[in-house]
Amino acid sequence: MYPSLVVFVLAFSLATLALDNGLMRTPPMGWLAWERFRCDIDCKNDPSNCISERLFRDMADRLAEDGWRELGYVYVNIDDCWSSMERDKEGRLQPDPDRFPGGIPKLAKYIHDRGLKLGIYGDLGTHTCGGYPGTTLDKVAVDAQTFADWGVDMLKLDGCYSNVTEQAKGYPLMSKALNATQRPIAYSCSWPAYQGGLPPDVNYTQLGEICNLWRNYDDIQDSWDSVLSIVDWFSDNQDVLQSAAGPGRWNDPDMLIVGDFGLSLEQSRSQMALWAIMAAPLFMSNDLRTLSSEARAILQNKVLIGINQDPLGVQGVRLLKEKSRIEVFWRPLVDSASALVFFSRRTDMPYRYRTSLLNLGYPSGSYKVYDVFTEKTLPVLKHDTYFTVSINPTGVVTWLLTPTMHWGQAQEAMKYNFVEEAIDSTFL
Ligand code: GLA
Repeated sequence: MYPSLVVFVLAFSLATLALDNGLMRTPPMGWLAWERFRCDIDCKNDPSNCISERLFRDMADRLAEDGWRELGYVYVNIDDCWSSMERDKEGRLQPDPDRFPGGIPKLAKYIHDRGLKLGIYGDLGTHTCGGYPGTTLDKVAVDAQTFADWGVDMLKLDGCYSNVTEQAKGYPLMSKALNATQRPIAYSCSWPAYQGGLPPDVNYTQLGEICNLWRNYDDIQDSWDSVLSIVDWFSDNQDVLQSAAGPGRWNDPDMLIVGDFGLSLEQSRSQMALWAIMAAPLFMSNDLRTLSSEARAILQNKVLIGINQDPLGVQGVRLLKEKSRIEVFWRPLVDSASALVFFSRRTDMPYRYRTSLLNLGYPSGSYKVYDVFTEKTLPVLKHDTYFTVSINPTGVVTWLLTPTMHWGQAQEAMKYNFVEEAIDSTFL
């Protein structure tokens, strides 16, 4: 296997297919209510934790004031259970007046004033998954226009209570309707998740043309098992999924649950690192008001965010599944850089995993290695030098690699007596 060849082939094939709204050239980042706040509409008992204007304003404040926005976390996204049970007299969706007394345009302004963007949720079907009014085919145009009039920047369109035929009509129809509003509105389609996530039922070429991102698989829950099942599904099907993704069009393995209740710190690092490798949208679903400093440090890790946001936009893959229950993930990045994640599925003790870059398919040469979580630069590593990483149970070791000089270049340079420091250090 020769990873760099994959880069060229993919980069070339990505050039022409993306959705025409110019949005999300790198995976979107922000906050999304669902996993943490669900359908809690009990604002009388707990006004700060229910789906309400107040919750979204609070999250906007935190994103703007706690350093998130500058890192790229700009979306504040409403999920299900925001609307009234009835449409208005003109047939438009309307928010529950008790919980959104200012209406959505005012909330949108609050969010925009802070340099952020607003996302909203709809469902192609008779009802949303939570039982609120859905967007049947005859309502697609009016709902798209309503969202645009309100100043919405992103729509997640779920698929409960609709059939295969309605979805095949409705998802492309909404894409057109959003474009027709002339407001740039990013479009997240849950369509593939309702069709099993795989061809032939799912046409990823078409999805890339009409949606900016899409949910492929089950909902994430606040547990390590849930994270593992998602990672497994995405890795088992990576041959199909990798080529579907690219600038403007992303597979969505669902929200980050770092900072919630289900993951240890090791597991939180693993989720963040694997989501970076998978070029996944980074939508946190947590309570930014009470986040621990450890969770914040993981979610705000600049190098990991840089890997996730790499402009080449090639989704990474699982390279290896060892009998030892170590798995190695790899993602190619711009300028021949790459990221490696050594992931332990073990539950006994830190495991010493020994390998070389050559074993992992790297071309000859020497590489600068930066350990993303220890924040240390390691000695320059030659492709065929064996090394050992110690990986904690359910944890990761995450490396960013940049080639110093390829072996061929080094030999050429030596011929002309340009023996530079970089070349010396290839002889470890
Ligand atoms: C579905 C979606 C979730 C969430 C809920 C809301 O299950 O997959 O992400 O939006 O509906 O009811």
